[in-house]
Amino acid sequence: MMLSVQDLRVSFAREYGDPVEVIHGISVDLEKGETLGIVGESGSGKSVLSLATMGLLPRTARASGKILLDGEDILTMSERQLCRVRGRKIGMIFQEPMTALNPSMRVGAQIAEGLRLNRALSRRDARAEALRLLEMVQIPRAAERIDSFPHEMSGGQRQRVGIAIALALEPELLIADEPTTALDVTVQAEVLGILDELVSELGISLVLISHDLGVIARIADRTLVMYRGDEMEQGETEQVLRRPSHEYTRKLISALPGRVRASLEMSDG
Ligand SMILES: Nc1ncnc2c1ncn2[C@@H]1O[C@H](COP(=O)(O)OP(=O)(O)OP(=O)(O)O)[C@@H](O)[C@H]1O
Ligand SMILES: [Mg+2]
Repeated sequence: MMLSVQDLRVSFAREYGDPVEVIHGISVDLEKGETLGIVGESGSGKSVLSLATMGLLPRTARASGKILLDGEDILTMSERQLCRVRGRKIGMIFQEPMTALNPSMRVGAQIAEGLRLNRALSRRDARAEALRLLEMVQIPRAAERIDSFPHEMSGGQRQRVGIAIALALEPELLIADEPTTALDVTVQAEVLGILDELVSELGISLVLISHDLGVIARIADRTLVMYRGDEMEQGETEQVLRRPSHEYTRKLISALPGRVRASLEMSDG
């Protein structure tokens, strides 16, 4: 099992009053090479769950339960162990690509820097590898774009660079929290397509978080539906979408654009 979250609870300390629990006992498993979609409206705890999985909860948070990555519990790791895990075992893709990018550094140099630090590549090899990664995420004219600054690129290109950075250290698990929400609809579909293609090609497990069930329906093998820190249901995406057992999931489905709903029904063999 790549990832096994077991009865995870997360609460935040408050200045006055008792801590507030925002995740109330979530359990979910993810196999190697599988894509898990996590869907739920704003405030349902999707980002807290992903931060917990990366060992990035703020200091005010308390977590209980287990988050086993390849059998090792993230929740009991030291900061040092966590640093080794992040990047090498877990790659992260953020909603706003600039979160992961340095605005004052050329994109190729940024990718190469991580490679030189973590994989001890020479300057030349790191640049060649950065170019290969930019081509892999389908940056057009990558050999020229490698020397661009982030602000010289479009949002979609920046997020492709974000994906390249997340993949640079060959992680086994990618966590993408609303990776396409900041992009135009057509660009969203392109970036999602690239992500989907790459994870299946490389055999990486993916946790894809979105409030948009249409996005999840497109690429997740399994889906977890969350609402206010609780699991509503989980299972194979097709099952969840065709035979939702929970009223909340039915509401999410009926809120999908008709075109997306039709494509779900059409594929009903
Ligand atoms: N640092 C924090 N301190 C206190 N409460 C927090 C903190 N971060 C998140 N929360 C609370 O935890 C709950 C879950 O938030 P979370 O950000 O995980 O929601 P989400 O599902 O990612 O929503 P969105 O779709 O808007 O991104 C919310 O009630 C939020 O207010
Ligand atoms: Mg969020």
